[in-house]
Amino acid sequence: MDSFIIEGGRPLKGTLRVSGSKNAALPILIATLLTDEACEIDNVPNLRDIRTTFRLLESLGKRIEYDGDAVRVLARGRLETRAPYEIVKQMRASVLVAGPLLGRFGTVRVPIPGGCAIGMRPIDIHISGFKALGATEHEETGDAVLKAARLKGRRVRLRFPSVGATENLMMAACLASGTTVISNAAQEPEIEDLGAFLNKMGGEVIGAGTGVVTVKGDRRLRGGQHAVIPDRVETGTLLLAVAATGGSARLEGACADHLKAVLDKLSAAGGRIRSGYGFIDVSMASRPKAVGIKTLPHPGFPTDLQAPWMSLMCLARGSCLVVETVFENRYLHAGELVRMGAGIQVRGSVARVSGRPSLSGAPVMASDIRGGAALVVAALAAHGKTKIQRVYHIDRGYERLEVRLRRLGARIRRVRE
Ligand code: EPZ
Repeated sequence: MDSFIIEGGRPLKGTLRVSGSKNAALPILIATLLTDEACEIDNVPNLRDIRTTFRLLESLGKRIEYDGDAVRVLARGRLETRAPYEIVKQMRASVLVAGPLLGRFGTVRVPIPGGCAIGMRPIDIHISGFKALGATEHEETGDAVLKAARLKGRRVRLRFPSVGATENLMMAACLASGTTVISNAAQEPEIEDLGAFLNKMGGEVIGAGTGVVTVKGDRRLRGGQHAVIPDRVETGTLLLAVAATGGSARLEGACADHLKAVLDKLSAAGGRIRSGYGFIDVSMASRPKAVGIKTLPHPGFPTDLQAPWMSLMCLARGSCLVVETVFENRYLHAGELVRMGAGIQVRGSVARVSGRPSLSGAPVMASDIRGGAALVVAALAAHGKTKIQRVYHIDRGYERLEVRLRRLGARIRRVRE
């Protein structure tokens, strides 16, 4: 198992190019199940979850070729309609194969993902959406078995704007008969990107990235080529790392429009932000001001940046509240930050963060992707040496993070044990 050793207290400085978005690439790669024609997806990050997606697609009958960040997905033969538990248990997003396979073949069997470190994460919104389109569902030995002679376009209102359920239904609805209107849909930029790809494949998806998505069905989808949007969560994590160390940097390829809520909060905390087409500059000249956040579905403050924001606030002047409303258990990093000298008290979904002039290095442990990234942010700012164990969590969402941070002057190395 790998660990990071970080010697903190050095301002990050320089220029770095951000990667393609993991959470946009995953559903887009899975959408290739809607066709037998070749698809080319560019700007795909080289991450563990992406490699797991390749294995998932291969297990279902696709062939994958990749060269750098360009991925080709090709047909190999007849597709399977059963997703293997061995893969689903490693990556919950595997459940997104349900929509394309159900839409195409009228049947699919997907293991119901269990809870994970950050919450129970049921898939009831996906299932009730499929049922609204005319599917039946029953459960068998831990799998959801969905069937529909032909899905029918309908009006579907989601009880919560779930990112995954919106994506699953958009893909299924392309092959349904008639028009589907998904209201209270998730509005994340990754959904807009999936909609753009589906349209390149010959779909007709209108309003992806807004609260109401209309999908005209009865389509036969073709192959398509698409470049994935930049990763807003990686961008946000890097911005917060630069700010926490009192540094200044340019993130190339980053999209400020996708990060408005975070950039507003970072400015309020004293960060200087300048952005233009394809870049964001950030600098932080003094200790940040304490600024509270409440996570919400997009365009609210993203839950995926709650943990790195908390690391920044550990160093703020004053105290503030962090409120997590999207996941029920996303404060696993808080106890580890306290080990580094942070002042954090958690009660249910609310954390009070009392800023301190400095943090100190300590041995800590990552327990989920973003919580792990938050420990990196804190360690880069802390005095002394931090060892972060279980880096495999961080590797799921950040490509060679240590190599890239070194380009900004960080003292960070990976050790194998
Ligand atoms: C996506 O997960 C992202 N993953 C997550 O990123 C992100 O944190 C999350 O959206 C919220 O922005 C991918 O895109 C691969 P949801 P997803 O369905 O689709 C509840 C990361 O760190 N819910 O919007 O699983 C659920 O339990 C990951 O990169 C139901 O109750 O998120 C959660 O509390 C972590 N029933 C909330 O909704 C359902 O059927 C949001 O889940 C579906 C969801």
